[in-house]
Amino acid sequence: RRGLASYDAVVIGGGPGGYVAAIKAAQLGLRTACIEKRGALGGTCLNVGCIPSKAMLNNSHLYHQTQHDLQRRGIDVGSVSLNLPQMLKAKDQAVGGLTKGIEMLFKQNKVDYIKGTASFLSPNRITVKLLDGGETEVEASNVIIATGSEVTPFPGGAIQIDEKQIVSSTGALDLQEVPGKMVVIGGGIIGLEMGSVWSRLGAEVTVVEFLGGIGGAGIDEEVAKQFQKLLTKQDLKFKLNTKVLSAEKRDGKVFVKTQSAKGDKEESLEADVVLVSVGRRPYTEGLNLEAAGVQIDNRGRIIIDDQFTTSTKHIKCIGDVTFGPMLAHKAEEEGIAAVEHIKHGHGHVNYNAIPSVVYTHPEVAWVGKTEQDLKAAGVQYNVGKFPFAANSRAKTNLDTEGFVKFLSEKETDRILGVHIIGPNAGEMISEAVLAIEYGASSEDIARTTHAHPTLSEAFKEAAMAAYSKPIHF
Ligand code: FAD
Ligand code: NAI
Repeated sequence: RRGLASYDAVVIGGGPGGYVAAIKAAQLGLRTACIEKRGALGGTCLNVGCIPSKAMLNNSHLYHQTQHDLQRRGIDVGSVSLNLPQMLKAKDQAVGGLTKGIEMLFKQNKVDYIKGTASFLSPNRITVKLLDGGETEVEASNVIIATGSEVTPFPGGAIQIDEKQIVSSTGALDLQEVPGKMVVIGGGIIGLEMGSVWSRLGAEVTVVEFLGGIGGAGIDEEVAKQFQKLLTKQDLKFKLNTKVLSAEKRDGKVFVKTQSAKGDKEESLEADVVLVSVGRRPYTEGLNLEAAGVQIDNRGRIIIDDQFTTSTKHIKCIGDVTFGPMLAHKAEEEGIAAVEHIKHGHGHVNYNAIPSVVYTHPEVAWVGKTEQDLKAAGVQYNVGKFPFAANSRAKTNLDTEGFVKFLSEKETDRILGVHIIGPNAGEMISEAVLAIEYGASSEDIARTTHAHPTLSEAFKEAAMAAYSKPIHF
């Protein structure tokens, strides 16, 4: 047992929510510690999520493009082959560099990094089982819980993940060989991103999705349909309205049993690798929340009020382990706002302006309301759409698939939602987020000069279409 240290703020979890909160707290002059048990900072996002998946998406896209797209651009290359170990190494290097970078930021900002597993002894006392052996105790005036999420296991234990043949996203980011056939259970964001990666590298990928459309929660239905068409063109196969019941390993293969959503048809699919991507759930194991008086809801989420305060006054909670979309940037914003509440008594996150991005090719990105949301709420709205096929830069880049879609309030022209499927959608969506943040109208965007020739002109023209007419379509 080492000595008892006392802090103004102790952050449990060093993911995007926790590490950002810790740095912000130190910047605001609070004596701060961050406790992380994984042995590396950055959480799910940096170690087994956002960053390694984007490394694999980017490099598998380049490989696929070199094979299938360069010739028409006037670039002849010799034989192209995959060096998977090197691609995995490049991914690991990206992860390693970034996690070390956060350690540096902790040093610069004087955040104490405690490597170990935190558990509450009382509302103000936390014991830490240290990674290098032994235990320490810390005392905290304020605590921020940011313990994130974990893969949701398949219901009833009908599928056991071994991370080799039956994998979660973590195993899917580290397959040592390209599978011949891959079955993806769940057509949400993980399924589509990782399905794209292995399809581009040569696997025959079938995505089984229970719902009638792909893309997970919050995607605009028109975008989802277009998205499915484009991925189908890239050779991904989809079985919609189909539920996976179980998966069984036999003779080196995995057999996946499916049933139509109506329950009238059963089928067995054979695969070399199965990816289980049916969602993530809040993670609070071992925290001993009872000792802190912190309550969770029936889905395991830590209950907070609009100031991120849990059922115990000086304990706040942010990120995947509480309500809202499980996104890194959402966790980061909450981290900053929660610390500002502690220090200043106020802080704010605009939940209407949190973008979602799927990093396939083309990318899909959106913010705000979908058309189906507006219909359900009985809101009168205008739609402004502009296809990338009519955008000069997309045409010169030979990358014209997709469109930008604006949804604005009929009476006021205020932007309610923007949905993009197309090249660079993930970067372009930031302009829509800013517009919504500032309460802009589509006319505001339409009258703002956008450089020529850029993909962003498609964004401006969709805004023109929403309040009047576009020029180029
Ligand atoms: P986490 O990142 O999960 O961090 C929590 C940390 O707390 C973990 O490191 C854990 O070890 C630690 N911890 C837990 N309990 C304890 C304890 N008792 N003591 C000490 N430490 C503890 N989001 C995006 O926005 N963009 C993307 O492109 C994206 N891609 C993704 C791809 C994949 C494959 C996955 C799985 C997720 C992706 N996400 C993406 C989601 C993103 O990773 C999460 O939303 C984000 O990591 C949540 O941050 P967090 O800080 O709340 O939790
Ligand atoms: P998800 O919730 O997005 O999708 C899961 C899908 O599985 C749903 O469409 C659901 O209908 C389907 N499903 C569930 N049970 C099924 C069954 N038995 N048979 C067939 N289909 C079934 O979850 P996912 O993809 O696992 O991602 C988890 C979280 O990670 C997401 O909520 C997202 O926030 C985050 N993430 C974000 C990324 C990004 O921002 N680019 C990338 C990857 C993950």
